[in-house]
Amino acid sequence: MATDFSAAIETRSAQGIAAAISRMVTAGEIAIGDKLPTVRALAKELDVSPTTVNEAWRALAAAGVIEPKGRNGTHVRAAPTPGATQRYRKVTEGPGHFQLDLSTGTPDPALLPDLGPILTKVPRSDLTSSYLDEPVLPALREQLLATWPFEPGALTVVDGAMDALDRVTREVVRLGDRVIVEHPTFPPIIDLLEQLGAEVIGVDVDDQGLNVDQFAAAMTLNPAMALIQPRAHNPTGNALSPRRARTLAKLVANTKCIVVEDDHCADVASSPLVSLGKWLPEQVVHVRSFSKSHGPDLRLAAIGGSCDVVDSVCAHRLIGPGWSSRILQSMLGALLTSPTSIKQVANARETYEYRRTLFSSSLEEHGVTVGGRDGINTWVPVADENSAVVALAAQGIGVAPGAPFQVRSDRSYLRVTSGLLTTDTQINEVALAVASSAVAPSWGARRR
Ligand SMILES: Cc1ncc(COP(=O)(O)O)c(C=O)c1O
Repeated sequence: MATDFSAAIETRSAQGIAAAISRMVTAGEIAIGDKLPTVRALAKELDVSPTTVNEAWRALAAAGVIEPKGRNGTHVRAAPTPGATQRYRKVTEGPGHFQLDLSTGTPDPALLPDLGPILTKVPRSDLTSSYLDEPVLPALREQLLATWPFEPGALTVVDGAMDALDRVTREVVRLGDRVIVEHPTFPPIIDLLEQLGAEVIGVDVDDQGLNVDQFAAAMTLNPAMALIQPRAHNPTGNALSPRRARTLAKLVANTKCIVVEDDHCADVASSPLVSLGKWLPEQVVHVRSFSKSHGPDLRLAAIGGSCDVVDSVCAHRLIGPGWSSRILQSMLGALLTSPTSIKQVANARETYEYRRTLFSSSLEEHGVTVGGRDGINTWVPVADENSAVVALAAQGIGVAPGAPFQVRSDRSYLRVTSGLLTTDTQINEVALAVASSAVAPSWGARRR
């Protein structure tokens, strides 16, 4: 390379060298894939000790700017793609308005608890909180701790599960790190990891959770993080069994891998909550969202677990928004204790269970077998997902194509939010339409 490092690097400390190289990469003065000089050669050129250059190289590698390739030297890594949200868009950008939109993965608004009576229960003190108050309302903290699946080293509240995953991932994952996710999984999770320049490793998920052999193989690659949904898995509806959780925990123990559990359906999930935190409290960060159970617009999720990670999230957040609205926290606290709201949420949980189960058995009657035992979605194998999406759209039914959920190419699927189907008649009619679209493209064009 003809780059003049000695002119570009003014400050000859390890930090100065690392910062100058980063600037050169950002400015395109060193291209992605370029080989950098050896430690010895650069030390000589800059008139510093090899230890100083080594330290700079270590910092750059940790930040993911460079990649040591053994005997082949050290190379500049590809930068992550900013704004990579393609998968999420593919789910949400359907062909238009539907009579019945089952593509959304969102809760049924009619099943959310009433907020009206709760608003009056927000105490004045919670409406006038200052910058210096506790970030989590003490009463809410108590409620969360009392129901947390293990004793968390630290706990806080943020603006929903996706906010939690974003904040936690940014603390744990560096450019080039490997991250285990379920295959398939929620598309924004893959978008987020790709945006951060992580290498995504997809592990199949069955009705007990992650596939053990694939997970064990992935663990040999020293992943920085494993991001799993312990129940109501989106899109498959699977749930982690206690036995599988214990096996996975054994594979994670004594490694540097942080396990992030995204309990996004939480109080409306029908499976019991299973957490690896029972065995690995310091390696697990558990996320509980209240969006599906109490309302997406409350924008609240709790994060509890590994002190290192949760404290770092809190410290970084102090520089930004600092805390989640205590007015909303106060409303959530009231929703979690009001007997009426508790009953409404229990009703929602049972109703989703009923709708999903009836939809599955109706599909089965029409020749389509689906898995899943929890949550608001059904993952339907089809012959050709694009044709099936179009055929159902022609009947006024919106469904999501499977591709954005898949880490690697697999067979065709549809994700149908069966939790939005309201009556038995509707469930049976939609099951027939979906089953028809699943079999072969030409069968799907039945008009309603
Ligand atoms: C698996 C998964 N994680 C996170 C979220 C986002 O949750 P929240 O609305 O709390 O950000 C969803 C929403 O559907 C989800 O399915």
